[in-house]
Amino acid sequence: MKTEKNMKILAIESSCDETAAAVVENGRNVLSSVVVSQIDEHKLYGGVVPEIASRRHVEAITGVVDEALNQSGLALSDIDALAVTYAPGLIGALLVGINFAKGLSYATGLPLIPVHHLRSHIAANYITNPSLRPPFLCLVVSGGHSHIVYVEDYTKMKIIGKTRDDAAGEAFDKVARVIGMPYPGGVNLDKKAELGNDSAYTMPRPKVADSPYDFSFSGLKTAALNLIHNAEQRGETVSVEDLSASYRRAVIGCLTDNFIKAAKDLNCSKLVIAGGVSANTLLRRELTRICAECGYELYMPELKYCGDNGAMVGAQAYYEYLNGNTAGLELNAAATMSIEG
Ligand code: KG4
Ligand code: ZN
Repeated sequence: MKTEKNMKILAIESSCDETAAAVVENGRNVLSSVVVSQIDEHKLYGGVVPEIASRRHVEAITGVVDEALNQSGLALSDIDALAVTYAPGLIGALLVGINFAKGLSYATGLPLIPVHHLRSHIAANYITNPSLRPPFLCLVVSGGHSHIVYVEDYTKMKIIGKTRDDAAGEAFDKVARVIGMPYPGGVNLDKKAELGNDSAYTMPRPKVADSPYDFSFSGLKTAALNLIHNAEQRGETVSVEDLSASYRRAVIGCLTDNFIKAAKDLNCSKLVIAGGVSANTLLRRELTRICAECGYELYMPELKYCGDNGAMVGAQAYYEYLNGNTAGLELNAAATMSIEG
Protein backbone atom coordinates (compact mmCIF):
# COMPACT_ATOMS: atom_id res chain seq x y z
CA MET A 1 0.00 0.00 0.00
CA LYS A 2 1.29 3.48 -0.94
CA THR A 3 1.11 6.30 1.58
CA GLU A 4 0.21 9.88 0.76
CA LYS A 5 0.63 12.84 3.05
CA ASN A 6 -2.09 15.51 3.25
CA MET A 7 -4.08 14.17 0.35
CA LYS A 8 -7.15 16.28 -0.30
CA ILE A 9 -9.95 14.58 -2.20
CA LEU A 10 -12.98 16.30 -3.72
CA ALA A 11 -15.77 13.71 -3.58
CA ILE A 12 -19.16 13.59 -5.30
CA GLU A 13 -22.23 11.49 -4.42
CA SER A 14 -25.43 11.27 -6.53
CA SER A 15 -26.56 7.63 -6.24
CA CYS A 16 -30.12 8.31 -5.12
CA ASP A 17 -31.94 11.45 -3.95
CA GLU A 18 -29.16 13.53 -2.41
CA THR A 19 -26.69 15.61 -4.44
CA ALA A 20 -23.61 15.84 -2.26
CA ALA A 21 -19.97 16.91 -2.40
CA ALA A 22 -17.20 17.19 0.16
CA VAL A 23 -13.49 17.80 0.56
CA VAL A 24 -11.79 15.26 2.80
CA GLU A 25 -8.15 15.12 3.85
CA ASN A 26 -6.40 11.77 4.36
CA GLY A 27 -9.68 9.86 4.59
CA ARG A 28 -10.53 11.21 8.04
CA ASN A 29 -10.57 14.99 8.18
CA VAL A 30 -13.67 16.62 6.64
CA LEU A 31 -12.84 20.10 5.34
CA SER A 32 -16.34 20.63 3.94
CA SER A 33 -19.52 18.66 3.28
CA VAL A 34 -22.56 19.89 1.36
CA VAL A 35 -25.75 17.84 0.92
CA VAL A 36 -28.77 18.97 -1.08
CA SER A 37 -31.77 16.71 -0.58
CA GLN A 38 -34.58 16.15 -3.08
CA ILE A 39 -36.83 14.49 -0.51
CA ASP A 40 -39.50 17.21 -0.53
CA GLU A 41 -40.20 16.60 -4.19
CA HIS A 42 -40.13 12.75 -4.04
CA LYS A 43 -42.44 12.88 -1.01
CA LEU A 44 -45.28 13.89 -3.32
CA TYR A 45 -44.98 10.47 -5.03
CA GLY A 46 -44.34 8.37 -1.91
CA GLY A 47 -40.87 7.32 -3.09
CA VAL A 48 -37.93 8.27 -5.30
CA VAL A 49 -38.88 8.87 -8.95
CA PRO A 50 -35.65 8.03 -10.85
CA GLU A 51 -36.09 10.49 -13.72
CA ILE A 52 -36.86 13.37 -11.38
CA ALA A 53 -33.80 12.41 -9.31
CA SER A 54 -31.52 12.59 -12.37
CA ARG A 55 -32.90 15.95 -13.43
CA ARG A 56 -32.50 17.46 -9.96
CA HIS A 57 -28.89 16.19 -9.77
CA VAL A 58 -28.16 17.89 -13.12
CA GLU A 59 -29.53 21.17 -11.77
CA ALA A 60 -27.83 20.99 -8.37
CA ILE A 61 -24.43 19.45 -8.97
CA THR A 62 -22.43 22.49 -10.11
CA GLY A 63 -23.61 24.59 -7.16
CA VAL A 64 -23.04 21.76 -4.67
CA VAL A 65 -19.46 21.09 -5.82
CA ASP A 66 -18.72 24.83 -5.91
CA GLU A 67 -20.06 25.24 -2.39
CA ALA A 68 -18.02 22.28 -1.11
CA LEU A 69 -14.86 23.87 -2.52
CA ASN A 70 -15.79 27.30 -1.09
CA GLN A 71 -16.50 25.93 2.37
CA SER A 72 -13.20 24.04 2.40
CA GLY A 73 -11.36 27.30 1.70
CA LEU A 74 -9.51 25.56 -1.13
CA ALA A 75 -9.28 26.12 -4.86
CA LEU A 76 -9.53 23.30 -7.39
CA SER A 77 -5.75 23.65 -7.83
CA ASP A 78 -5.28 22.58 -4.18
CA ILE A 79 -7.14 19.29 -4.73
CA ASP A 80 -5.10 16.10 -5.21
CA ALA A 81 -7.77 13.72 -6.54
CA LEU A 82 -11.44 13.43 -7.44
CA ALA A 83 -13.78 10.72 -6.21
CA VAL A 84 -17.25 9.68 -7.26
CA THR A 85 -19.85 7.06 -6.34
CA TYR A 86 -20.19 4.73 -9.35
CA ALA A 87 -22.28 1.81 -7.99
CA PRO A 88 -24.75 0.62 -6.81
CA GLY A 89 -27.62 3.07 -7.25
CA LEU A 90 -30.04 4.59 -9.75
CA ILE A 91 -28.25 4.60 -13.10
CA GLY A 92 -29.46 7.99 -14.29
CA ALA A 93 -28.62 9.55 -10.94
CA LEU A 94 -25.14 7.98 -10.75
CA LEU A 95 -24.32 9.08 -14.31
CA VAL A 96 -24.76 12.74 -13.38
CA GLY A 97 -22.09 12.55 -10.68
CA ILE A 98 -19.81 10.35 -12.77
CA ASN A 99 -19.94 12.58 -15.82
CA PHE A 100 -19.35 15.70 -13.75
CA ALA A 101 -16.35 14.09 -12.07
CA LYS A 102 -15.01 12.88 -15.42
CA GLY A 103 -15.33 16.39 -16.87
CA LEU A 104 -13.38 17.78 -13.92
CA SER A 105 -10.75 15.07 -14.25
CA TYR A 106 -10.41 15.72 -17.98
CA ALA A 107 -10.03 19.46 -17.45
CA THR A 108 -7.62 19.28 -14.49
CA GLY A 109 -5.74 16.04 -15.11
CA LEU A 110 -6.53 14.94 -11.54
CA PRO A 111 -6.86 11.19 -10.85
CA LEU A 112 -10.41 9.84 -10.65
CA ILE A 113 -11.32 7.39 -7.88
CA PRO A 114 -14.46 5.25 -8.28
CA VAL A 115 -16.18 4.49 -4.95
CA HIS A 116 -18.69 1.76 -4.11
CA HIS A 117 -21.68 3.29 -2.30
CA LEU A 118 -21.85 0.75 0.55
CA ARG A 119 -18.09 0.88 1.11
CA SER A 120 -18.48 4.63 1.53
CA HIS A 121 -21.24 4.15 4.12
CA ILE A 122 -18.79 2.01 6.12
CA ALA A 123 -16.11 4.70 5.72
CA ALA A 124 -18.41 7.27 7.39
CA ASN A 125 -17.18 5.57 10.57
CA TYR A 126 -13.55 6.54 9.89
CA ILE A 127 -14.62 10.20 10.07
CA THR A 128 -16.52 9.88 13.35
CA ASN A 129 -14.09 7.42 14.98
CA PRO A 130 -10.52 8.44 14.10
CA SER A 131 -9.00 5.42 15.88
CA LEU A 132 -11.12 2.85 13.98
CA ARG A 133 -9.15 0.51 11.76
CA PRO A 134 -10.05 -2.81 10.09
CA PRO A 135 -10.51 -5.68 10.70
CA PHE A 136 -14.06 -5.42 12.04
CA LEU A 137 -17.56 -6.76 11.47
CA CYS A 138 -20.03 -4.26 10.00
CA LEU A 139 -23.81 -4.20 9.80
CA VAL A 140 -24.60 -2.17 6.67
CA VAL A 141 -28.27 -1.18 6.65
CA SER A 142 -29.68 1.27 4.12
CA GLY A 143 -32.76 1.84 1.99
CA GLY A 144 -31.59 -0.70 -0.59
CA HIS A 145 -29.26 -3.09 1.27
CA SER A 146 -28.92 -5.05 4.50
CA HIS A 147 -25.59 -6.84 4.84
CA ILE A 148 -23.33 -8.21 7.52
CA VAL A 149 -19.83 -7.60 6.13
CA TYR A 150 -16.46 -8.70 7.43
CA VAL A 151 -14.14 -5.77 6.67
CA GLU A 152 -10.76 -7.45 6.59
CA ASP A 153 -9.05 -4.34 5.28
CA TYR A 154 -10.18 -0.95 3.94
CA THR A 155 -10.76 -2.39 0.46
CA LYS A 156 -11.10 -6.11 1.23
CA MET A 157 -14.56 -7.23 2.36
CA LYS A 158 -16.54 -10.44 2.63
CA ILE A 159 -20.33 -10.69 2.86
CA ILE A 160 -21.30 -12.86 5.83
CA GLY A 161 -25.07 -12.38 5.58
CA LYS A 162 -27.59 -10.41 3.55
CA THR A 163 -31.28 -9.88 3.06
CA ARG A 164 -33.15 -12.37 0.90
CA ASP A 165 -35.85 -9.84 0.00
CA ASP A 166 -36.48 -6.30 1.32
CA ALA A 167 -33.77 -4.14 2.87
CA ALA A 168 -34.34 -2.96 6.45
CA GLY A 169 -34.85 0.68 5.35
CA GLU A 170 -37.33 -0.40 2.68
CA ALA A 171 -39.23 -2.50 5.26
CA PHE A 172 -39.47 0.55 7.55
CA ASP A 173 -40.48 2.89 4.72
CA LYS A 174 -43.26 0.63 3.38
CA VAL A 175 -45.01 0.18 6.74
CA ALA A 176 -44.53 3.88 7.58
CA ARG A 177 -46.21 4.80 4.31
CA VAL A 178 -49.29 2.66 5.07
CA ILE A 179 -49.66 4.26 8.49
CA GLY A 180 -49.63 7.67 6.83
CA MET A 181 -46.07 8.90 7.29
CA PRO A 182 -44.37 10.85 4.50
CA TYR A 183 -41.43 9.36 2.53
CA PRO A 184 -38.87 8.31 3.72
CA GLY A 185 -40.85 7.01 6.67
CA GLY A 186 -38.06 5.22 8.56
CA VAL A 187 -37.06 8.22 10.64
CA ASN A 188 -40.70 9.17 11.40
CA LEU A 189 -41.57 5.60 12.40
CA ASP A 190 -38.53 5.65 14.67
CA LYS A 191 -39.77 8.83 16.38
CA LYS A 192 -43.32 7.48 16.90
CA ALA A 193 -41.90 4.18 18.15
CA GLU A 194 -40.14 6.01 20.98
CA LEU A 195 -43.60 6.94 22.32
CA GLY A 196 -45.23 3.49 21.99
CA ASN A 197 -45.49 0.15 23.76
CA ASP A 198 -43.33 -2.35 21.86
CA SER A 199 -45.26 -5.39 23.11
CA ALA A 200 -48.72 -4.08 22.17
CA TYR A 201 -48.78 -6.03 18.89
CA THR A 202 -47.30 -9.46 18.25
CA MET A 203 -44.90 -9.55 15.31
CA PRO A 204 -43.13 -12.56 13.80
CA ARG A 205 -39.32 -12.78 14.05
CA PRO A 206 -38.51 -14.43 10.68
CA LYS A 207 -35.40 -16.60 10.31
CA VAL A 208 -33.89 -17.85 7.07
CA ALA A 209 -33.56 -21.66 7.15
CA ASP A 210 -29.93 -22.88 7.02
CA SER A 211 -28.58 -19.29 6.78
CA PRO A 212 -28.23 -17.95 10.32
CA TYR A 213 -26.81 -14.61 9.18
CA ASP A 214 -29.27 -13.83 6.36
CA PHE A 215 -32.33 -11.62 6.84
CA SER A 216 -35.87 -11.76 5.47
CA PHE A 217 -38.11 -8.77 6.10
CA SER A 218 -40.92 -9.24 3.58
CA GLY A 219 -42.96 -11.62 5.82
CA LEU A 220 -42.59 -9.26 8.75
CA LYS A 221 -43.63 -6.30 6.63
CA THR A 222 -46.66 -8.23 5.31
CA ALA A 223 -47.66 -9.19 8.87
CA ALA A 224 -47.67 -5.51 9.86
CA LEU A 225 -49.61 -4.49 6.75
CA ASN A 226 -52.19 -7.29 7.32
CA LEU A 227 -52.63 -6.20 10.91
CA ILE A 228 -53.37 -2.63 9.75
CA HIS A 229 -55.78 -3.73 6.99
CA ASN A 230 -57.64 -6.21 9.23
CA ALA A 231 -58.11 -3.54 11.89
CA GLU A 232 -59.41 -1.11 9.23
CA GLN A 233 -61.92 -3.71 8.01
CA ARG A 234 -63.17 -4.27 11.53
CA GLY A 235 -63.43 -0.52 12.09
CA GLU A 236 -60.80 -0.67 14.85
CA THR A 237 -58.11 1.97 15.25
CA VAL A 238 -54.48 0.99 15.34
CA SER A 239 -52.20 2.92 17.67
CA VAL A 240 -49.52 4.39 15.41
CA GLU A 241 -47.11 4.66 18.34
CA ASP A 242 -47.66 1.08 19.54
CA LEU A 243 -47.52 -0.43 16.06
CA SER A 244 -44.36 1.55 15.23
CA ALA A 245 -42.76 0.37 18.47
CA SER A 246 -43.75 -3.30 18.02
CA TYR A 247 -42.67 -3.38 14.37
CA ARG A 248 -39.40 -1.52 15.02
CA ARG A 249 -38.58 -3.95 17.82
CA ALA A 250 -39.08 -6.91 15.45
CA VAL A 251 -37.00 -5.45 12.57
CA ILE A 252 -34.18 -4.31 14.85
CA GLY A 253 -34.33 -7.64 16.73
CA CYS A 254 -33.67 -9.53 13.46
CA LEU A 255 -30.71 -7.25 12.71
CA THR A 256 -29.11 -7.44 16.15
CA ASP A 257 -29.71 -11.21 16.62
CA ASN A 258 -27.89 -12.12 13.40
CA PHE A 259 -25.19 -9.50 13.80
CA ILE A 260 -24.29 -10.61 17.32
CA LYS A 261 -24.45 -14.29 16.34
CA ALA A 262 -22.02 -13.58 13.48
CA ALA A 263 -19.71 -11.67 15.86
CA LYS A 264 -19.69 -14.58 18.30
CA ASP A 265 -19.20 -17.26 15.64
CA LEU A 266 -16.41 -15.32 13.91
CA ASN A 267 -14.87 -14.38 17.23
CA CYS A 268 -14.91 -10.73 16.23
CA SER A 269 -15.28 -8.21 19.05
CA LYS A 270 -15.00 -4.98 17.05
CA LEU A 271 -18.45 -4.06 15.69
CA VAL A 272 -19.46 -1.21 13.38
CA ILE A 273 -22.79 -0.06 11.92
CA ALA A 274 -23.35 1.92 8.72
CA GLY A 275 -26.02 3.22 6.31
CA GLY A 276 -29.21 5.25 6.69
CA VAL A 277 -30.79 2.79 9.16
CA SER A 278 -27.74 3.07 11.44
CA ALA A 279 -29.44 6.32 12.59
CA ASN A 280 -32.22 4.22 14.17
CA THR A 281 -32.57 5.01 17.87
CA LEU A 282 -33.37 1.45 18.97
CA LEU A 283 -30.58 -0.11 16.88
CA ARG A 284 -28.05 2.24 18.47
CA ARG A 285 -29.47 1.73 21.97
CA GLU A 286 -29.70 -2.07 21.72
CA LEU A 287 -26.22 -2.52 20.28
CA THR A 288 -24.76 -0.18 22.90
CA ARG A 289 -26.37 -2.34 25.62
CA ILE A 290 -25.41 -5.71 24.10
CA CYS A 291 -21.83 -4.66 23.33
CA ALA A 292 -21.38 -3.36 26.89
CA GLU A 293 -22.63 -6.71 28.22
CA CYS A 294 -20.40 -8.76 25.89
CA GLY A 295 -17.35 -6.54 26.21
CA TYR A 296 -17.39 -5.70 22.48
CA GLU A 297 -16.17 -2.42 21.00
CA LEU A 298 -18.97 -0.61 19.11
CA TYR A 299 -18.48 2.13 16.52
CA MET A 300 -21.31 4.16 14.99
CA PRO A 301 -21.30 7.06 12.52
CA GLU A 302 -22.39 10.49 13.72
CA LEU A 303 -26.05 11.00 12.72
CA LYS A 304 -25.18 13.52 9.98
CA TYR A 305 -22.98 10.88 8.27
CA CYS A 306 -25.50 7.99 8.48
CA GLY A 307 -27.47 9.04 5.37
CA ASP A 308 -25.98 9.70 1.95
CA ASN A 309 -23.25 12.38 1.89
CA GLY A 310 -20.06 13.25 0.05
CA ALA A 311 -17.72 13.10 3.06
CA MET A 312 -18.04 9.33 3.37
CA VAL A 313 -17.15 9.03 -0.35
CA GLY A 314 -14.02 11.12 0.21
CA ALA A 315 -13.11 8.96 3.22
CA GLN A 316 -13.34 5.63 1.36
CA ALA A 317 -11.73 7.14 -1.76
CA TYR A 318 -8.49 7.78 0.14
CA TYR A 319 -8.11 4.07 0.93
CA GLU A 320 -9.17 3.03 -2.59
CA TYR A 321 -6.48 5.35 -3.96
CA LEU A 322 -3.81 3.96 -1.64
CA ASN A 323 -4.78 0.53 -2.92
CA GLY A 324 -4.30 1.67 -6.53
CA ASN A 325 -8.00 1.80 -7.43
CA THR A 326 -8.33 4.64 -9.90
CA ALA A 327 -10.44 4.82 -13.07
CA GLY A 328 -9.98 6.12 -16.60
CA LEU A 329 -12.40 8.40 -18.39
CA GLU A 330 -14.30 5.34 -19.64
CA LEU A 331 -15.74 4.91 -16.10
CA ASN A 332 -19.44 3.92 -16.19
CA ALA A 333 -22.21 3.48 -13.61
CA ALA A 334 -23.59 0.13 -12.41
CA ALA A 335 -27.01 -0.34 -10.80
CA THR A 336 -25.80 -3.35 -8.84
CA MET A 337 -22.33 -4.37 -7.71
CA SER A 338 -21.10 -6.52 -4.87
CA ILE A 339 -19.34 -4.75 -2.02
CA GLU A 340 -16.67 -7.46 -2.27
CA GLY A 341 -15.58 -5.92 -5.61
O1 KG4 B 1 -28.21 4.95 3.29
P1 KG4 B 1 -29.39 5.74 2.92
O2 KG4 B 1 -29.42 7.22 3.23
O3 KG4 B 1 -29.72 5.59 1.41
C1 KG4 B 1 -29.49 4.39 0.73
O4 KG4 B 1 -28.32 4.14 0.35
O5 KG4 B 1 -30.48 3.63 0.59
O6 KG4 B 1 -30.63 5.04 3.67
C2 KG4 B 1 -31.92 5.53 3.55
C3 KG4 B 1 -32.82 4.64 4.40
C4 KG4 B 1 -34.30 4.95 4.20
O7 KG4 B 1 -34.98 3.73 4.01
C5 KG4 B 1 -34.67 5.61 5.51
O8 KG4 B 1 -36.03 5.44 5.87
C6 KG4 B 1 -33.77 4.90 6.48
O9 KG4 B 1 -32.54 4.83 5.80
N1 KG4 B 1 -33.64 5.62 7.76
C7 KG4 B 1 -34.06 5.12 8.94
C8 KG4 B 1 -33.78 6.11 9.92
N2 KG4 B 1 -33.21 7.18 9.30
C9 KG4 B 1 -33.13 6.86 7.97
N3 KG4 B 1 -34.62 3.93 9.24
C10 KG4 B 1 -34.92 3.71 10.53
N4 KG4 B 1 -34.71 4.60 11.53
C11 KG4 B 1 -34.14 5.80 11.27
N5 KG4 B 1 -33.91 6.68 12.26
ZN1 ZN C 1 -26.87 5.20 0.96
